Amino acid sequence: MHHLLSGGIVAHLPPPPITIISKGNAVRGGGTAVDRVQKTPRKEGIVLLLHRLAPALVSAIMTLSPTLHPPGNIVKSLAQTADIQRGATLFRRACIGCHDAGGNIIQPGATLFVNDLQRNGVDSEEGIYGITYYGKGRMPGFGENCTPKGQCTFGPRLQEEEIRELAKFVKLQADQGWQQIETGQD
Ligand code: HEC
Repeated sequence: MHHLLSGGIVAHLPPPPITIISKGNAVRGGGTAVDRVQKTPRKEGIVLLLHRLAPALVSAIMTLSPTLHPPGNIVKSLAQTADIQRGATLFRRACIGCHDAGGNIIQPGATLFVNDLQRNGVDSEEGIYGITYYGKGRMPGFGENCTPKGQCTFGPRLQEEEIRELAKFVKLQADQGWQQIETGQD
């Protein structure tokens, strides 16, 4: 998919704007490419075209190289931060009643701290996802297709995406010893 995308976008970029960009980015002693652009009589037309294309180029570059360019990295970590933020919000809504600060008010040996998660075999994101979706013992399941009914929450169900965000959040908090949630109440 990545190479398809990249092929497509590159194929649609006309060469002149790219040349001008390298001029703008200050190839000082550089070049023939710049000379060529400066001599061209349609310069203003091309500059206009560049203005129209610039946002598209920037987003194309960010899409194409998320790991190579700083802007891509920023976008990526912003997305992760947003995921974790949503996870925290969901946790406060659906889980904190029994798992405040990563504990377990019903079953002290099944907290959301790493040592319990490990001993109970649910210390992976998938493990946390599974128990959140289907429940276990006195832990109600929250998945939309959780069965049997008696094992599932009587409250609102969560979408798969939400449970995935929760699993990510719980895993991260467990790895960090649940330091922030204790005081963070907004
Ligand atoms: C009604 C109380 C209650 C609520 C609400 C609740 N849990 Fe639990 N949770 C439990 C109990 C009880 C267990 C222990 C289940 C067992 O092992 O038999 C548990 C276990 C877990 C475990 C495994 C912990 C371990 O060490 O084995 C995870 C992960 C977990 N819950 C996540 C969540 C998430 C995420 C939510 C919110 C969507 C949530 N729980 C909401 C009661 C609750």
